[in-house]
Amino acid sequence: MTKLGKWYEESWIQLPRSDFFCAEEAGYYFKPNLVPVSLHPLVKEAGVGVSEELQILHLYHYLDDVDTLETEVINKSLQNIFRGSIPLHIPNELWGDAYKIYIDEGFHAFMSYELKNEISAQTQIKYSKPHILQTVTSVNEQIDLVDPELWPLAQLLASATNETMISANLLQCNDVGLKPTISTYLSSHLRDEAKHHIYFAELFQVVWNQLLLSEKKTLGLMLPKIIKSLLSINKRSICLDLIQVGFDRGNAELIFEESYQGYNQTISRPVKSTLRLFEKCRIFEIKEVRNSFLEEKIILPIN
Ligand SMILES: [Fe+2]
Ligand SMILES: [Fe+2]
Repeated sequence: MTKLGKWYEESWIQLPRSDFFCAEEAGYYFKPNLVPVSLHPLVKEAGVGVSEELQILHLYHYLDDVDTLETEVINKSLQNIFRGSIPLHIPNELWGDAYKIYIDEGFHAFMSYELKNEISAQTQIKYSKPHILQTVTSVNEQIDLVDPELWPLAQLLASATNETMISANLLQCNDVGLKPTISTYLSSHLRDEAKHHIYFAELFQVVWNQLLLSEKKTLGLMLPKIIKSLLSINKRSICLDLIQVGFDRGNAELIFEESYQGYNQTISRPVKSTLRLFEKCRIFEIKEVRNSFLEEKIILPIN
């Protein structure tokens, strides 16, 4: 028992107690086609256990991504709303809901941490110490490039971009081959995120419509870079996973290259609804912004 005692039962907020029994369940830890290296012939040759270990490591990284992105980026932008740091008119209803989403995201981060610990205890497959991941660092680098006066707005628009994207990682919850515990974790998260999507789409429009043209240009140029950061593949981390399961550096790089060939050349499905939102806000009518999306090879919606 920790210093917080029976926190689940006694804290003011009554959270559902989640027990995770992944190791005893049939199914995979992560949909194999979302972990392309686990399907590589050299990995298959090494045995089912190696493929499964790579899927577990991939799940850890995904859970770390949820933990860090939702607390370091999304919740910081929500704080800016309920602290009144956004220098624009934000309707009351959106202020109040910012607190609710802040709690949701904190809970998602905590559940991700709990699930990761349980799986590690059950499988004895270790995870590296939680750290700020490449995604968060890369999103923050893009935000840092704009004028410091625009940082709260940049962070808010980056959050809205993330929250309106439809994650293939969450959508895999409908896959019958997934372990029930993972599927339940993902579908519960997806239910909350569907509501966050509606909130952030509304918030984005409210904010964007109040910006000056010069602000729209600066922040609009940042948006395709944010999309790229959110969808980027972490080669270093994937190669380290391959080394952890027994491959040498040369084979790890080879497996990575062959597995991800052409994987990220065009960005389409996850950002469709985000791009439609941008179009609704007439973002692409600003020539410089439109060109910046095209330069990043992002296919724009057709009117
Ligand atoms: Fe979340
Ligand atoms: Fe969210």
